[in-house]
Formats: sequence, C-alpha cells, structure tokens
Amino acid sequence: MSVTTISKQGDIAVVTVDNPPVNALGRDLRQALWDAVATLDADPEVRAVVLICAGRTFIAGADVREFGKPPEPPHLPDLVDRIEGAQKPWVAAIHGSALGGGFEVALGCRFRVALESASVGLPEVSLGIIPGASGTVRTPRVAGVAAAVELVTSGRPVRAKKALEMGLIDDVIAGDLLAGAVEFARASLGEPLPLPVSQRPVADPGDDFWTAQEAAVGKAAKGAAAPLRALASVRKAATAPFAEAMAYERQTFLDLRGTDQAAALRAVFFAERGAPRPAHLGDAKAAALKSVAVIGGGTMGAGIIAALRDAGLPVTLIERDDEAVARGLANLRKIVDGGVKRGKLTEAQAEARMQGVTGTTDYAALADVDMVIEAVFEEIGVKREVFAALDRHCRADAILATNTSYLDPRDIAEGVSNPGRFIGLHFFSPANVMKLLEIVPVPETSAQTLATGFALAKTLGKIPVQAGICEGFIGNRILKRYRAAAEDLVRKGVAIADVDAAMRGFGMAMGPFEAQDLGGLDIAWLQREGARAAGQDVPETLGDVLVTAGRKGQKTGGGWYDYAEGDRKPRPSATVTGLLGERIGTGAAMSLEEIADHLVAQMAAEGQAILDEGIAHQPSDIDLVEIHGYGFPRWRGGPMFIASRKG
Ligand code: 3HC
Ligand code: NAI
Repeated sequence: MSVTTISKQGDIAVVTVDNPPVNALGRDLRQALWDAVATLDADPEVRAVVLICAGRTFIAGADVREFGKPPEPPHLPDLVDRIEGAQKPWVAAIHGSALGGGFEVALGCRFRVALESASVGLPEVSLGIIPGASGTVRTPRVAGVAAAVELVTSGRPVRAKKALEMGLIDDVIAGDLLAGAVEFARASLGEPLPLPVSQRPVADPGDDFWTAQEAAVGKAAKGAAAPLRALASVRKAATAPFAEAMAYERQTFLDLRGTDQAAALRAVFFAERGAPRPAHLGDAKAAALKSVAVIGGGTMGAGIIAALRDAGLPVTLIERDDEAVARGLANLRKIVDGGVKRGKLTEAQAEARMQGVTGTTDYAALADVDMVIEAVFEEIGVKREVFAALDRHCRADAILATNTSYLDPRDIAEGVSNPGRFIGLHFFSPANVMKLLEIVPVPETSAQTLATGFALAKTLGKIPVQAGICEGFIGNRILKRYRAAAEDLVRKGVAIADVDAAMRGFGMAMGPFEAQDLGGLDIAWLQREGARAAGQDVPETLGDVLVTAGRKGQKTGGGWYDYAEGDRKPRPSATVTGLLGERIGTGAAMSLEEIADHLVAQMAAEGQAILDEGIAHQPSDIDLVEIHGYGFPRWRGGPMFIASRKG
C-alpha cells in the first residue's frame, strides 16, 4: 500500500500521508514525498499543494526505529529543501502533532496551518539528538532566535494558538482542516508569496544573549548533552549563512545519534511506549472506571485523589473520623492550591477539583464505586479491617486495591471475597506528580483486574510497571540495596559527602544520604525494628546508630549531616563521625566516578536478582521504575541499560 495519495480539488492538489501509526518519516514516506514534488511540479493544472495526514496525527517525526542504522536516501534535509524549492507553494495542514522531522517538513512548506487542538515542536533533545533537517536553522527564521532556542532546547511542543503568536504557523483553522487548508491555499494565490523560509533573514541577538542562554540551558540539562548542542546550532544559524548552518546542524545530529545518551534515551522512549500494553495482558479487557474511592487522606491518599481528580474522576474519600476527613480534604486543598500557585491550575479548575470529592466516614457511600484504593497506615491489622469493611459495602465486582509499600498484598487480601478483584497499586510520593505506578497482582488477581490497573495508569498519565511480590517490590528493594551499598562504602572509609557528590555528579537530584535526611531516617528504621521484633535477623545499620542518637534527618536538625537553623544545606558532621566511631574506616581512595559506577552496578545486580526471581518481566521495566520513581537520570537509560552496555 502506498504511504501517500494525491487527489485534486480544482487547481489545488492534496497530498495525503497515510503511514500508521504516526506517519513517521521512514524511507518509503521520504521517497513518496520526494516523488510527489516532481509529479505536482509537472502538472500544469495544479497551482498549490496541501499536505495533510490521515490517522491520529500529522507527521510525528523521523522514524526513530531507523536511528540505529546508516541513513538511507532520500535524506530528510534534502526532502525539506525540495519541498521548499517546489514550483507550487505547499501548505502543511496540521492536526495532532507536527514533531521533529514532521515540523521540519512543515517548515519546508511555504505555509503552515493547524487545528486549534494541534501542537508543533522539536522534541529531538528528549531523544539525545538535535533536529537534523533544519529545525535549528529554519525555526529562528520564522519565529526569531529566542523562540527557536526555547523550542529546540526544551523539546516541549506548543499548542496551535501559541504557535501562531510565535510565528511558527500562519493560521489556526476552525472546523474541517482539509477544507480550511484548501481555502487558505487558494486565497494565498492572490497575494505575493512570502519568501521561502531559508531565504528569510535572522537577527543575531549578540554575545550577552548567548552567554546567558548557555548558562540557563546547561543548568536545566542536568548532564544531558543535547540541549547545549542544540543551542550551539541555533547560534550558528543566527551567525552564519544558511548552507553553513545546515552543514553544522547535520554534523551535530549525526554525531549525537551514535552516542550512549541517544541510545539510552531511545531505549527509554520505546520502553515507555510499550509499558501500558505488556504482551502478557493479551486481549484482557479492562473494567470501566467511572468513580473511585480512596481510603485514607494522608500523604499518599491526598496525592492519589489529586491524580484521580486531574483525570476528571469523581472520588469518595473515607477517613477514620470527621476530623480526619477534614484533614484529608485540607491535604488535598494544599496540593490543589500549589497547582494554582505554580500556574498549573486556574482558580476555577482548583474549585472543580475540590467539588468532585466527597469526604465521609460512612462506608455505605461506597455501594456503587467501581474501584477502591486503600492508603491507610502501614499496619496489617488496620488494612485488614478496612478490607473487611470494603467487602461488606462495595459491589461484588468493585476492584479493591492496596497502596502498601512493604506489606505482603496476599496477607492484606486474605478473607476478601472474589479475590480476583484484588490488586496492589503502588503509587509514589507525591502521587499526583510521580509518573511511576507499580502494579502488583496477587496469585488470584484476574486478567480483567490486572488490565484495569494498567488502564487506570493510562488514564492518570502514569507509567505502569508490573511487579511480583517481594519485600519492597521492584523499586524499594533496589533502593534498600543502594543504601546498604552506600553505607558499605562509608564503612570502608569513603566520606559521606563524597558518596552524595558522586551520585549528584552522576545525575541524581540528590545523593543517598542527603535524600534520607530530607525524607527522614526513621521510616526505614521503624521497618527494620518491626522485622527485628518479628524475630528476623537484621544486622545493625549505620542509620540505626544515628536514629538511636536522635538524628532522624532535617526534621530533627541533623541526620547524616548537620543543618544550620532554617538552612537546608548539608554540612559534614563531626558528631556523626564520633557516633559512628570505629564502624567507619578512614580515607579509602575512590574517585567520584568509581563510587557512582559501583553503586549503579549494585542497583543493577539487585535488578538482575529481581529478574531471575521473576519479580520483574524485563530489564527495561526496572529502568522505568528507577527513572520514574527514583530520579535516575533519564539520559543514562537506567541501571539495567548501563549494565547491558558494559556487558
Ligand atoms: N518513530 C517510530 N515510531 C514511533 C514514533 C517515531 N517517531 N513515534 C511514535 N512511534 C510509535 C510508538 O512506538 C508506538 O508504537 P507501538 O504502537 O508499536 O507501541 C506508536 O507509534 C504510537 O505511539 P504513542 O503510543 O506514543 O501514540 P500517541 O498517540 O500517544 O502519541 C505522538 C503520538 C505524540 C506522536 C507520540 O508518539 C510522540 O511523541 N512520538 C515521538 C515524536 C518524536 O519524538 N519525534 C521526533 C523524532 S526525531 C526527528 O524527527 C529527527 C529529525 O529532526 C531528523
Ligand atoms: P499517612 O499517615 O500520611 O496517612 C494515612 C492516613 O490513613 C491517615 O490520614 C489516617 O487518618 C488514615 N487512616 C488510618 N486508619 C484508617 C482507617 N481505618 N480508615 C480510614 N482511614 C484511616 O500515611 P501515608 O504516607 O499516606 O501512607 C499510606 C500508605 O501508603 C501506607 O501503606 C504506605 O506504606 C503507603 N505508601 C507510602 C508512601 C510514602 O512515600 N509516604 C509511598 C508509597 C506508598
């Protein structure tokens, strides 16, 4: 089947691209468009051309699957030049997304029009590359240098209205896109044509602008290489002739394509897209979710409600007593108000978020909910009582989920009738922000319940990863190993501050010790104490020594570090050195890079054990857990990706 068709509406030709799923610019499509230019140039009846796409979107970019292979002609930059050089003006008619190479093709067209719902952008940096077909060179010629810098260094797409304001497109079409674009094309024939984009001037904003941008972009990139290279390419476009800037952009694109960072980001791209539909789900159908209840309105419950409300689902909150109901709603209010403060929500949206929640202590309110998510205290007795009540009050087919972190979901499920509807849904804090959702079936969980867990993740915009049952599931189990390995280094004499500096240098937002000081050392300590009380042999950790001495982290004025009053800057602590005494060695010589390599290798080793035990289905699932739940730098690809590269 051909990936393009040509039809005519009088003197306007319509080229329709149909290359599912997202009209990516694989070799066949590049060739078909290449040929279309010649065909239409040669047709005397045709005075202008509309380029439009079938399916869910305009051309979504180069075909990422081709990036591992040598480039095949016709090359995309040549195709964009050829469309620009066509004898008839081309009009790109955009719906869905015009991204990367798709937007570059649109920049080759003389005009760009779009539906209001459409967006355009150059997301290449999120794949570790820069635009390779004139995105950095033509964009400043339509929208100016500042807009081009924002677009290519952030990788964030913009909606049609904003794109129109920025000069990225020429018109927003209401109603039928094809009819509007044909009308636009016909009207343009009566006017003098604008210059082809490559011939338009671009103004260099000067050295001060570039210096400031380098600082800002470098900081935001947090170790990713592509954003600064994209900036350099826009700078070239603003300071050198078109052809020279094109050559520079192409070379940078080709250089970056082969880097570890680009390979890592591609792997994450495909892992994320595969995550919502793991093969073993087969064709299991999810249950419809029209209303959800959350039990417990604490840190997690309130965050989960916020996530559900963001997706438009009505929520019932159940708490222990009226006071706790009020506290739960106040917790939610705080999250929603934060959204308003950061400009993410309007006042009206915030109000609607709150209006959609009913707080109560009465389980009778749950008679008709489709799903319940439990987020009460991490105590088996409390959880069992809650599920017994749910069993009495909910519909027999209502899905019952627990957000437990460490308890065995099988113990929680015990006694629940129709256990096929029971599942673990492990959210991460803050639950309305963190993208990861660990999905933990018990042996009885039905295929439909499992599919519904994945469907819920999609509804909430989360990345679902299935985990088997073990202490800490995937993420917290690796976290435990990581922290233990970090303590081992300290026992050998590596400085606490060096461990943190190494992991920050690696790309984590924080090192393992400063992160514990922020979150509190007592949570993990309580858990260890619980295990000890239950008769398990849990050797003393360095963290135990600190907690026993009252050092629980920032909230007690000190943990692994000291903190000055009202200051979050960690300061190495002589008190800690004294407390740990002979437990720690002195002056082990390890470079920061060796420290990071060692700790990441330990994470990968735990990941391998998790795979061997069948707790995770595939290595990329573990990488998604680390990236979306624990701040592992995306451009590193995850511990399993790194381990596989190292063989
Ligand atoms: N190349 C190859 N396959 C792609 C692709 C691409 N650029 N974009 C998406 N796909 C595939 C996905 O892997 C998925 O495949 P699957 O069904 O087998 O799992 C399928 O298309 C559908 O993708 P989504 O599930 O993401 O579909 P949505 O409808 O949710 O989203 C989209 C559509 C917004 C277009 C989203 O797919 C997207 O953002 N794609 C990436 C766009 C991109 O990064 N483009 C730039 C590429 S680099 C480039 O163009 C370089 C150039 O400058 C030279
Ligand atoms: P929290 O202490 O902030 O909130 C628990 C809430 O449950 C309180 O508001 C309490 O009033 C309520 N509650 C207690 N018993 C109840 C009952 N019988 N009926 C109704 N409500 C009841 O605790 P948090 O941090 O929100 O944790 C909740 C659950 O989520 C725990 O299982 C925890 O392990 C898990 N979790 C916690 C994460 C975190 O980072 N805090 C991350 C992921 C999971």
